Amino acid sequence: MTRVANFNPGPAALPLPVLERAREELIEFQGTGMSIMEHSHRGKAYEAVHDEAIALLTELAGVPATHQVLFMQGGASAQFAIVPMNFLHGRSADYLHTGTWSKSAIDEAKVLGAVRLAASTEADKFTRVPRPDEIDLDPGAAYAHVTTNNTIEGTQYHYDPDTKGVPLVADMSSDFLWKKPDLARYALVYAGAQKNLGPSGVVIVIARKDFIETGRKDIPKIFKYTTFAAANSLYNTPPTFAIYLVRNVLAWMKSVGGAAKLQAWNEAKARLLYGALDAQADYYRAPVEKASRSTMNVVFRLPSEALEEAFVKEATKAGLVGLKGHRSVGGIRASIYNAVTVEDVERLVAFMEAFARKNRP
Ligand SMILES: Cc1ncc(COP(=O)(O)O)c(C=O)c1O
Repeated sequence: MTRVANFNPGPAALPLPVLERAREELIEFQGTGMSIMEHSHRGKAYEAVHDEAIALLTELAGVPATHQVLFMQGGASAQFAIVPMNFLHGRSADYLHTGTWSKSAIDEAKVLGAVRLAASTEADKFTRVPRPDEIDLDPGAAYAHVTTNNTIEGTQYHYDPDTKGVPLVADMSSDFLWKKPDLARYALVYAGAQKNLGPSGVVIVIARKDFIETGRKDIPKIFKYTTFAAANSLYNTPPTFAIYLVRNVLAWMKSVGGAAKLQAWNEAKARLLYGALDAQADYYRAPVEKASRSTMNVVFRLPSEALEEAFVKEATKAGLVGLKGHRSVGGIRASIYNAVTVEDVERLVAFMEAFARKNRP
C-alpha cells in the first residue's frame, strides 16, 4: 500500500487508524450483522455512535454546559444562509471581511437583511486578518461574524475577537479543533467536517442554548437551530456514515493525547514549513503577514508561474499531493490539518529545498 502525503484543502487527509477502523467495521458493525450505514438512525447501534461523537466533541473541544453540539447538513455554505435566516430578524449584522469565504457569508446575509463591515482587509489583498483595534463594531448588531481561518488566503486569527457583548458567530471550517477553542466566547460556531474532523457531508455546529432560542420562529423547521437542538440532531435522517467517521476521528484524537497534542503537532508543522519559507526567502515568497499566518493552510509563491506548475507536478510524482493553490489566487498551498503528520511536512520541506536548488530561474 502506498499512501501519499496529502495536502488537500478539503476534503482532506484522514488519519490512517481512522480509515483502518472503518475498514474493519465496514461490513459488519460490532456483531450486528450489517454496516453502520445500514442501521436505522433511530436504532441503538447508531444512536450510541451519535452520542459518543457528541460526548467526544464535548470533551475534546471543551464545550461548555451553556452550549450544545449539533450535526447539520448542507456544508458550511448552508450555514452562511441559516445563520442570518435565524438571527438577522430585520436587523443588521456585522461581518469581518477577510477573504473569499467571508465574502460568500456576507453575500448570503445580504439576501436576508442588512450587513455592515466591522473590518475588512481587502485593501491589503487579504494578506492579513484585522488587528483587534481595527474592528469597529455596531453595539446594536444582531451578531458579529468572523472567519477564523481563511483557507484560500492562508490567514488565521490568533486571538478571539472581543465583540463587547454582541453575539460572536464563527466559521471555523478550516481550523476547528486545531487546538482547544475558547467556545465560551462564541454564541455559535460552525465547521464543515471535511478538513479537520472527518469526511464531507456533516457540519458541526456548537451554539449557546440561549442564543439559538432567540432564532426566528417563522422559518421552515429544517432551517431552525432549535429544531436540531430539541431533537439531538435526529429531527430527520442525519448523515450517519459521516458522523460515524467523525466519531472515529475524535476517538483517534483522544487516543493520541487530545487537543493539546494536536496543537503541539500543528505548531511544529507550521514552524517547519514557515521556517523553510523564511530560510529560502530569495526563492519562495510567503505573502501573508507573519502575525496572521495560518497554522492550517500555508500559501506561498515561486519565482514564476511556470516554476509553480513544475513544483506541483514534481511534488505529485514524489507522493506529495494537493499542493496547487486555489484557482482564484494561484500559487502553492499546503494544507496541514490535524491528520497531516510532522513526517509529511518534513518530506515536503526536503522536497522544497531540493527543488529550489535545482530550479533557479
Ligand atoms: C472557511 C470556509 N468556509 C466555508 C467553506 C465552504 O464549505 P462547504 O463546501 O462545506 O460549504 C469552506 C470550504 O473550503 C471554507 O474553507
